Amino acid sequence: MQYDPHTRTFDCDPSLTDSQVVAFCRDGHLLLKGVVPPEINQRAIDYLEGRLPANPSWMPPGMTMADVERIRGSHEPSVIMLEDWFVEGVLLNPQVAGVMRALLGRNVGLPVLASSHRIECPAPAQPWHYDADHVFGPELNFLEVFYFPQDTPIELGPTEFVPGTHVAPVQRAEEHGGQFAAGPAGTIGIHHQSILHRRGRSTASGTRHMLKYNYWRTTAPTRDWIAEPDFDLRTADYGGHNHARYAAHTFCWLCGKGDEYRILGGQAWPWRSRNQIGPSYGFGADHGYLPDWRKQKQDGYA
Ligand SMILES: [Fe+2]
Repeated sequence: MQYDPHTRTFDCDPSLTDSQVVAFCRDGHLLLKGVVPPEINQRAIDYLEGRLPANPSWMPPGMTMADVERIRGSHEPSVIMLEDWFVEGVLLNPQVAGVMRALLGRNVGLPVLASSHRIECPAPAQPWHYDADHVFGPELNFLEVFYFPQDTPIELGPTEFVPGTHVAPVQRAEEHGGQFAAGPAGTIGIHHQSILHRRGRSTASGTRHMLKYNYWRTTAPTRDWIAEPDFDLRTADYGGHNHARYAAHTFCWLCGKGDEYRILGGQAWPWRSRNQIGPSYGFGADHGYLPDWRKQKQDGYA
């Protein structure tokens, strides 16, 4: 792990393989259960609840200790990211860092804003929603993280999300459930920012803390995660109809080949069925269409 405190960027070995990167493109989420050590989780809770004095390792230009205390008590306690123990134990957590390095390239930029999603349980579920300013597109320039410092079983209302909804807007009835980012203390959910989600309904009593922040790409995408010898872009599983074209576009963008991506439609690559007797036609086509991410074409191709 190489961390540059001046640029607030880090580099390390990527931890995802080709197939795992494809899976993220397809599903839009990853869950790392209990990866932050217990003593760091307790410090985070104590800091957020005002029991641990602020001890910033550095100060942004113009910021005073009065600013630090004001920001710490706000709904965006970003100054927790000035604490050494938080940088080392949470932001640069090896398992999180390896994923970020795989999906965002070298010299990953650390977050500058953290928002606190603290809730007193029990509480009803939020409505399903997409977060503000989300963008649907093949680019992956940043990733959203949800950090749960306490044990967060389903009863304590962890984030609930719908895999695969990061490629296009979908409506979902409130009574329809999703998948939960539940886990023991120190669980970190990594999401495409454009995924449909909500705070789940909680039935237990207690305080649920959750911090949300983004990691940032600082270099052009290139395929430098863990290569799998038998991985084949032509036969990889990008998902089903009306979905595979988006996941494959994102994967090609991550490989640095987003501009070359063209698809023929129908049963052509990247769509495939396990029951076909040969690979899909259309892989590597130098003509064809792009997925219509902006939803301006009736047939979904641009
Ligand atoms: Fe949200």
